[in-house]
Amino acid sequence: LQEKLKVITIDGPAGSGKSTVAKIVAQNLGWIYVTTGAIYRTLALLFHESNIKVTDLENTERFISFITERYRQESNSGQVFIGERDITNEIKAPFVSELASILAQEDFVRKRLLPIQRKVVLNNNGAVVDGRDMGTVVFPDAPLKIFLTASVKERAERRLKELNQSGQKTDIKEILREIHERDERDLNRTFSPLKPALDAISLDSTKSSQEEIAKKILQFAVQKDLVI
Ligand code: DC
Repeated sequence: LQEKLKVITIDGPAGSGKSTVAKIVAQNLGWIYVTTGAIYRTLALLFHESNIKVTDLENTERFISFITERYRQESNSGQVFIGERDITNEIKAPFVSELASILAQEDFVRKRLLPIQRKVVLNNNGAVVDGRDMGTVVFPDAPLKIFLTASVKERAERRLKELNQSGQKTDIKEILREIHERDERDLNRTFSPLKPALDAISLDSTKSSQEEIAKKILQFAVQKDLVI
């Protein structure tokens, strides 16, 4: 009997609460938590720090090799490292989000980041992964797929809180603009656009707390026999 793939995918737009929910679910199951947006963000940061425009894609291969060798995510703390350098806060900056979503439109970038995402997850005994195309492209065989949404207003307020917590100054108008722009790009790109997998369960977190959403997902995990 083939063993069930121990992966729960959570896809959704920026600020829908994916990462917090994914973390709670992972902690409860004793699984690792992986946020794939951090990989796109790391690539964006490398472009930025080298003063190379994200439209100038000749350097992509070099950066992707660098990421393949040095990228690391710590599941418990959520910290992201490139080699020994902790880039957790740097990659959260709004300009990095923007550059990441521009790079994410490129098919060959997505294809090259695919094995990195799979490797981080499959080397472990159970993972909750968040992103945009986890259920549709990266883990199409995952036994439990969630598509998480929330109203734009709620998402903007959450993002503001998150950024303030990591010590970055910004205002709600700026965040709303950024969310609209990113939604536009993530939803309408040609390759792996943000959309629910056919077998995904859609949940709306506008009026529910992240704990409530996590609880629902854990109930689905029990129903699907993912919890022993
Ligand atoms: O989830 P996030 O906000 O950290 O993601 C940053 C950007 O990376 C997002 O705007 C689009 C891109 N991304 C993607 O295209 N596919 C993923 N699986 C994760 C992120």
